[in-house]
Amino acid sequence: MKSPYVSELQPSQVVTAVFLVQHKDIRQKKTGEPYLSLVLGDRTGEVEAKMWDNAEEVMDTFDRDDFVRVRGLVQIHQNRQQLMIQKLQRVDESTVELADFFPTTRRDVGEMMAELRSFVESFRNPDLRALCLAFLNDPDVDSRLRVAPAAKSMHHAYLGGLLEHICSMAKLAQWLGPHYGVDEDLLLTGVLLHDMGKIYELSYERSFGYTAEGHLLGHLAIALRMLDEKIRSLPSFPAKLRVLIEHMILSHHGQLEFGSPKLPAFAEAVLLHHIDNLDSKMDALRGALEKDRNVEGFLTGFSPALERQIFRKDRYLQPESKIEETGVSLPPAPEARPLGHTGAGSVNYRMTPDNPVTAGPRPAAPEGPVKLAGSRPGGFKPAPISAFAEQLQKALRDKDSQSKG
Ligand SMILES: [Fe+2]
Ligand SMILES: [Fe+2]
Repeated sequence: MKSPYVSELQPSQVVTAVFLVQHKDIRQKKTGEPYLSLVLGDRTGEVEAKMWDNAEEVMDTFDRDDFVRVRGLVQIHQNRQQLMIQKLQRVDESTVELADFFPTTRRDVGEMMAELRSFVESFRNPDLRALCLAFLNDPDVDSRLRVAPAAKSMHHAYLGGLLEHICSMAKLAQWLGPHYGVDEDLLLTGVLLHDMGKIYELSYERSFGYTAEGHLLGHLAIALRMLDEKIRSLPSFPAKLRVLIEHMILSHHGQLEFGSPKLPAFAEAVLLHHIDNLDSKMDALRGALEKDRNVEGFLTGFSPALERQIFRKDRYLQPESKIEETGVSLPPAPEARPLGHTGAGSVNYRMTPDNPVTAGPRPAAPEGPVKLAGSRPGGFKPAPISAFAEQLQKALRDKDSQSKG
């Protein structure tokens, strides 16, 4: 077993261990000499690393996705651990235990596959049962579904993550379907198929990325193609039912700007979108807390999936904690608002975490209270403006100046 894992690193520890290279940059010091700026990882997380000296000797001997044995010192830099590398050597993958380096679902994959099959076998609608079984009985779907992540980085971004996401959604659908009196078989069909295109959209042999098909088509279009192929093998499948399933796949991102060409237009499609959003957001929140690299303070680093920092309730509730010392300032309690408002503090539905169009990297937000030029000391400090809000405000300003002009 590998030792130590990233999650076990301690400040001032001298470490000799093997890591997977997740990012590699060759940069220049002011003297013109090169140095290495890396992100090293294993299945428990990732750590930034710098090699200031002798970088020239090793920088061409390894690349991203290679394994390296490093010796270095763990330091704290800007509230995060950083490994200062003294020695680095590439190691062959045959010498490492691959399972130590790739994040994997904590659930048993065979158990989840059996769970999905039992959901499908309980369907009362024979056409939907036959369709879903055609997917589950496809050996290629079976083998890919056992390992595919649900996203490159936003939620369930680990091997088996897609299957875990589908199983979690299926449980939510079983509770919420009867509550709203919808067609449960249709809803569960949507749950099983909505992200099925991801088994071909994402590449997941080493670090996660997009396949060429994934880049060019996306998982909604790929899922439609898979659906078409399966329905061809079921000649008596009702044409109208097919249209409903196609709509659920196409609309599950919920909004046009997140890659859905149509908005969810009937109960099962609306519910599918909200279950998908809920499950992906809750997993993104769990991941933000688990992978947080800040060594102190009550806030995690910025979560692109949730577009915010997450409050470390665990640290806050420790008896010895003092919130004033961290620089976290709280605004006055908001006035009561009607349920479902979209102001600060409400769930943000602006982003679909698995949408590659919106899932690009985003610069880290400043930590701690935001200081705005001209803001009154001690006054209410608004949250950083989102890119979307900025675009919206600009569009409104342009419209306003046009109408004045
Ligand atoms: Fe999706
Ligand atoms: Fe999903």
